[in-house]
Amino acid sequence: MSVCIIYHSETGTTRAVAEQVAALIGADLIEVKDLAGYSKVGMYLKGAPRAAQGKKNEIEPAVIDVSGYGTVVVGTPVWAGNPTPAINAAVAALAGIEGKAAVAFCTSRGAPRGTLERMEEMLAGRGADVRGAVPLTAGDVKNPEAVEVLADLVRRSEKEGIVQ
Ligand SMILES: Cc1cc2nc3c(=O)[nH]c(=O)nc-3n(C[C@H](O)[C@H](O)[C@H](O)COP(=O)(O)O)c2cc1C
Repeated sequence: MSVCIIYHSETGTTRAVAEQVAALIGADLIEVKDLAGYSKVGMYLKGAPRAAQGKKNEIEPAVIDVSGYGTVVVGTPVWAGNPTPAINAAVAALAGIEGKAAVAFCTSRGAPRGTLERMEEMLAGRGADVRGAVPLTAGDVKNPEAVEVLADLVRRSEKEGIVQ
């Protein structure tokens, strides 16, 4: 079995967490790009309202095939207390997610609000077997213990195998 980590990151924090977990456990990384190409101001003026409404943006890659993996990890920045429109689209774009173990994480300034509940709902709605979710902050990128909590959850998910 193997792990893939799918993430969206505009300013590098979620990417840094994804890369650290991949280095700790050995995983493939799939970066999702938001084709809206927001500026810094655009993220707040245009992106955040779309996140708050649960909207999806166009993304690259348009289809994310996870059928070859045992555990699927999905990481999002928090925008207005929600997953980003790119991650909403990425969860919808997952092919072969049904019955797979899934773990979610988010990075924020410390106020993730309902982001992880929404992630768990979306993944369960796609038929994934959600094993848990971990909230992280930008400061946690430099805190190996915080990143280890996420790595450990993924490791345990892999050990338990797929519940069909
Ligand atoms: C448009 C926008 C909205 C945000 N909303 C929140 C929020 O509601 N709560 C919070 O704690 N942080 C919020 N943040 C901070 C980001 O969640 C945080 O910086 C995150 O780690 C960025 O991830 P990235 O560097 O991978 O893009 C927001 C940032 C942006 C750009």
